[in-house]
Amino acid sequence: LTPLDALKPALHALTRREVPIAEIEMPRGGSALGFITGVLGGDLQTLAGGPLFLLLAKYCQKNGPVYTLAFGPKSFLIVSDPCMARHVLQSRPDAYSKGVLEEILKPIMGNGLIPADPATWKVRRRAIVPGFHRRWLGRMVSLFSGAAAELLGSVDAAAAAGSPLEMEERFCSVSLDIIGRAVFNYDFGSVRAESPVVKAVYRILREAEHRSTSFIPYWDLPYASRWMEGQVQFRKDMSLLDGILASMINGAVATRSEASVEELEERDEADDPSLLRFLIDMRGEDVDSEQMRDDLMTMLIAGHETTAAVLTWTLFELARGDVRMMEDVQHEVRTVLAGKAAPDYDDIVNMPRLRQSLTESLRLYPEPPILIRRALKDDSLPGGGSGIPSVKVLRGTDIFISTYPNEVASDFAFLPFGGGSRKCIGDQFAMMEAAVLMSMLLKKFDFEFAGSPDDVGMRTGATIHTMNGLNLIPHEGNFRTRSKEDGGGGWWDMKREEYERKR
Ligand code: HEM
Repeated sequence: LTPLDALKPALHALTRREVPIAEIEMPRGGSALGFITGVLGGDLQTLAGGPLFLLLAKYCQKNGPVYTLAFGPKSFLIVSDPCMARHVLQSRPDAYSKGVLEEILKPIMGNGLIPADPATWKVRRRAIVPGFHRRWLGRMVSLFSGAAAELLGSVDAAAAAGSPLEMEERFCSVSLDIIGRAVFNYDFGSVRAESPVVKAVYRILREAEHRSTSFIPYWDLPYASRWMEGQVQFRKDMSLLDGILASMINGAVATRSEASVEELEERDEADDPSLLRFLIDMRGEDVDSEQMRDDLMTMLIAGHETTAAVLTWTLFELARGDVRMMEDVQHEVRTVLAGKAAPDYDDIVNMPRLRQSLTESLRLYPEPPILIRRALKDDSLPGGGSGIPSVKVLRGTDIFISTYPNEVASDFAFLPFGGGSRKCIGDQFAMMEAAVLMSMLLKKFDFEFAGSPDDVGMRTGATIHTMNGLNLIPHEGNFRTRSKEDGGGGWWDMKREEYERKR
């Protein structure tokens, strides 16, 4: 902390607000021991005594949609008002940077899209967006279903043996295999076996996540990568992964075949449909290997556990929820996919209940649960959205935009993929991937909890994980059947009636 940091709260208190907003001290989470280890480890989650986003939502209910959360000299402005969120994310993107997130992710993602400075971001976003074109997404559907078929193999084996399967781990593996192939045509093969490369990827992800929940930059300590055990390992893992990325990039550069964006969109690259191929072959693009490495690393990290988390929590909610909800989704999936081994693009469009289930799980379990920004200049957040007046923001203020449930049906109330110019680039890819995997899974199987749903638990980092794994026993067909009293009608119809009644 610089002396200015230490003075910041006092300066803020004097000048920040046009209206008084609640100031909350970070509470002692769990036990005194938990609090001490939280402080020592610099870990926000331990300090909060549980998932931070749930604590923020609780305070929001008590104190309104904007308040400050302080621990020691450090304070954050917590915002969950949609108008304010839109202002920060969309209306004044030049007035806010990624702040803490940028500091944490730069050593891993370099100048990739997530932490990139505005000038680099503008150039790279413009170059990368065409890679996610409609035909490519259509082609990706067969990549997703191929990976899903491998996943079904392990679910089949567990169903035959009547044994539990840790589904969170399975979803992480299958989404890692998919992102490796989609982004740089590399087969991690993690559904089949755990290799040293796969282990390195997971350790890097854990380290990135630990950094993002930590408020002490322990990785910046002098020569940390030489003497801190975790950091030594991290350096080795990064160089292993960097080596793979370098060889994929060099291979693609060596076989470069330039074409216009339109020609690239029409190409049928059965052997290599990756984004890397697209970006290298794009005519007029100067290929800078270091920037390409940063772009690929960013997408590998951003597009992996996010999708796995959506799948995990959707299946958790379907397996523990009202039996009619699961039956309705399965009925839809089985009707649309009758006689087909895998869905195509149009089938996904024809499965609204499945897509609604995935979206609802993103509302309940947002990934990432908090969007982070830092004010680059003094600014004023407009009030109005929730009947609150505007709030003044000082340059240097760290802002957490809390995306956790906001029932107000208006713009920027629901931000599962962020918003404004820095909105997720892989949103359609991810939803398509999740829909293909989930539909193929639910077409064949129903799931029973190996213990109780309460055993699953929750912990957060960059995404929301289970505490103890999602251990489910798969069964072919419908395991739970609707009881007679439940009658017909279906869960969704019942919910709609309930909603109409309430309105
Ligand atoms: C950005 C969520 C999947 C690549 C973001 C942001 C969110 C998000 C909330 C905005 C972060 C911010 O404003 O600070 C998700 C969720 C996913 C998902 C919930 C899965 C369900 C993916 C996939 C990819 C991807 C599959 C790549 C193939 C990116 C990139 C950015 C981003 C590159 C930075 C965009 C920019 O700054 O221009 N994501 N994401 N994401 N996401 Fe995703």
